[in-house]
Parts: sequence; structure tokens; C-alpha cells
Amino acid sequence: MAKLNKTILITGGAGFIGTNFIHYILEKYPRYRIINLDKLTYAGNLANLADISNNSRYQFIKGDIADETTVQRIFKTKKPQIVVNFAAESHVDRSILDPQAFMRSNIFGVYILLEAVKKYGIGRFIQISTDEVYGSVAKGKPNEQARLLPSSPYSSAKASADLLCQSYYKTFHLPILITRSSNNFGPWQYPEKLIPLFITNLLENKPIPLYGTGKNIRDWIYVIDNCRGIDLVWHKGKIGEIYNLGGYNEKNNLEITNVILDKLNKNKSWIKRVADRPGHDLRYALNNQKIRRLGWKPIYSFAKGMRLTIDWYQQHQDWWTKIKSGVYRQYYKKQYKK
Ligand code: NAD
Ligand code: DAU
Repeated sequence: MAKLNKTILITGGAGFIGTNFIHYILEKYPRYRIINLDKLTYAGNLANLADISNNSRYQFIKGDIADETTVQRIFKTKKPQIVVNFAAESHVDRSILDPQAFMRSNIFGVYILLEAVKKYGIGRFIQISTDEVYGSVAKGKPNEQARLLPSSPYSSAKASADLLCQSYYKTFHLPILITRSSNNFGPWQYPEKLIPLFITNLLENKPIPLYGTGKNIRDWIYVIDNCRGIDLVWHKGKIGEIYNLGGYNEKNNLEITNVILDKLNKNKSWIKRVADRPGHDLRYALNNQKIRRLGWKPIYSFAKGMRLTIDWYQQHQDWWTKIKSGVYRQYYKKQYKK
């Protein structure tokens, strides 16, 4: 085996994007070693990584980024050169119902990571942020200098983390980079988010709850395109900079719903109109020019990404039925007691 030349600490790697990113990096860089630190919240799932659990270049550590002792021990003993922070509470509806965990993981957890970076030093710290920090966009596409106007406890916690990272760059010269992507879709997304929820509900012959008018617009990016963008920012991005990663696929929720209904041969009677999300942002959009200048553009069309995604959920019913019935959660409670 080739000599390993880099240790990367990936936090939140048992979630949707982290899982895709770990697979992508292990495949693309045969000399990188990955340590995955994940708290295994309801959204973290080791079944996603079962295929690489015996890979000598991969190690899983159960732990919380907001736990200083754990984080400092990992920096001291594993000496990562790069940190990519995916760890966060990620679901807007949950942040409206119960924001506390969002403050702890999405803000305090980032502070704990930054303090460890300050103490032990590393080559690059990549903070995975979101287009939601710009808030609802009435017209045009915000670039990286646009004002932050987050609407939900989730997005305001993410915006806070971005500011914290920028302050550690300015004050302590930490090697920070921030990516802000639009709505991801693809394999391993937890079936509480719009696309996997609607696909899996229809496969179970259950109605699909469409919020409000269904006219809210999101810019969709296939998850592998986001992984490619993060990889590029990590290897070619300028320290201290923010990079938007938008898919340039603006669709409203009704359009997304119709694509899924169509592919699964279901009619519109499966749509159940439900009350709107409080503070529901009407539109997200991103200006991509900066990352394009670095050499990135999406390679998955929306249609191809949706085909791959719907096929994946059809072929992995075991994965999502276990999640929906709570089987994995009970298993991790037993196996991974602290
Ligand atoms: P996810 O909810 O699927 O996964 C989050 C992961 O983080 C889980 O494995 C969870 O166990 C872990 N985690 C949560 N709190 C933790 C903590 N305190 N310590 C360690 N691990 C913890 O989320 P996702 O959709 O994969 O999103 C990953 C990141 O990307 C998040 O930071 C999110 O804000 C950002 N993001 C997501 C999207 C999207 O469309 N999904 C778009 C833009 C940005
Ligand atoms: O924009 C990036 C963000 O995308 C990420 O930062 C978040 O982590 C991620 O969860 C996602 O947030 P959204 O709120 O945009 O995604 P969600 O899938 O929850 O909702 C997408 C749209 O679909 C939104 O307008 C609300 C609507 N919706 C959602 C659900 C779950 C429904 O109509 N019905 C639903 O049941």
C-alpha cells in the first residue's frame, strides 16, 4: 500500500453529506487517512459506512464536537492536518420546535473545534455552511459578500458559526475556508427532508405533506457535485475565503413533487396540503462565479441527479425502513454507550 501522507478529521461524517464525502475522498485519494468524529445523533448512521468499516485508512470515533476533552484528545493523538466540519443539527423544522441542540452543536461545537485548531495548528479548517445564511432572496443571486439575513434558529446558528470562523481567521490567522452550498439531494439523505421524505412516503403508499402554497423555491445540487466543490476549495481555495456552491437548479416544491410523483407513477391525490413552516423562506439562490473561477461547475443535471436518487431509494428500502421504524437508533443506543 502507498505510504499515507495526510490525516483528515471529518466531523459529522455519519450523516448525509459527510457519508458521501468520505466515500468520495477515500476513492479519490489513496494516500489520505480519514478519522470520522460523529456524535451519532438521530441523523448519524454507521450503516452508511459499513462497506468501509474495515478499511485501514478509515477510523470512526463516536464523540461530540462540543466536548472539549474529546476534541483536544483527538487533535493531540491523531494530529490531523485538515478538518472538514459537517457536524451540525441540520433540519430547519426541528430547529423551530427545539433550538437548543442547534446552538450547542452548530455554534459552541464550532468554537470548540476552532480552539483546538488554535492550540494544535493544522493546514486547513473547512467549515461546511449553507445558502440559508443569506435568508430569503427576493431577486438576483447573492454572492459571498451579501448580507447575512438568516430566518430560522438553524440558519442563524450556521451564520453565527461562519462569523466565528471569520473572526478566528482575522484575529488568530487560523487557516479557515467556508463553503456555502444550496440544497443537496442524493443517496443517504435522512428521510425527513423534502426529497427523501416524499420518495419514501410514496413507496410506502403514504401521503406527502406539502407546506403552504408549494411555491417556495430551492436551488438543488446533487450531493456529489457539492463533494467535488468542497474538495476543490480544500485543495485550491484561498485561505480566509468563502465559496458559494449552487446547483443553478431553481425549482419550487410543487415542481419537485411532480417529478417524484411522475417517476413513481402516482397521481396528485397523494399530495396533502399542510400548514406552512413558520418563517418559511420563499427562495434561496446563489451566485457561483467565484467557485467557477476556481474551475468548478456541476456535472450532474437535475434530471440525472433525481433519477439516481429515486433509483437509490427504491433499491435501498432496508436502509430507510429501518430509519423510519427507529431500528438503527435502538441499535446505536445499545452499541455505542459512552
Ligand atoms: P445530517 O443531519 O444528515 O448529518 C449531520 C451529522 O452530524 C450526523 O451524522 C450527526 O450525527 C452529526 N452531528 C450532529 N451534531 C454533532 C456533534 N455535536 N458532534 C459530532 N457530530 C454531530 O446533515 P447533512 O445534510 O449531511 O449536512 C451536513 C452539513 O452540511 C451541515 O453542517 C449542514 O448545515 C450543511 N449543509 C447541508 C445542506 C443540505 O442540503 N443537506 C446544504 C448546505 C449545507
Ligand atoms: O438550503 C440548504 C439547506 O437545505 C440546508 O442548510 C439544510 O440543512 C437542509 O435541511 C435544507 O433546508 P430546507 O429547509 O430547504 O430543506 P427541507 O428538505 O426541509 O425543505 C425543502 C423545502 O420543502 C422547503 O421549502 C420546505 C418544503 N417541505 C419540506 C418538508 C420536510 C415541504 O413542503 N414538506 C415537507 O414535509
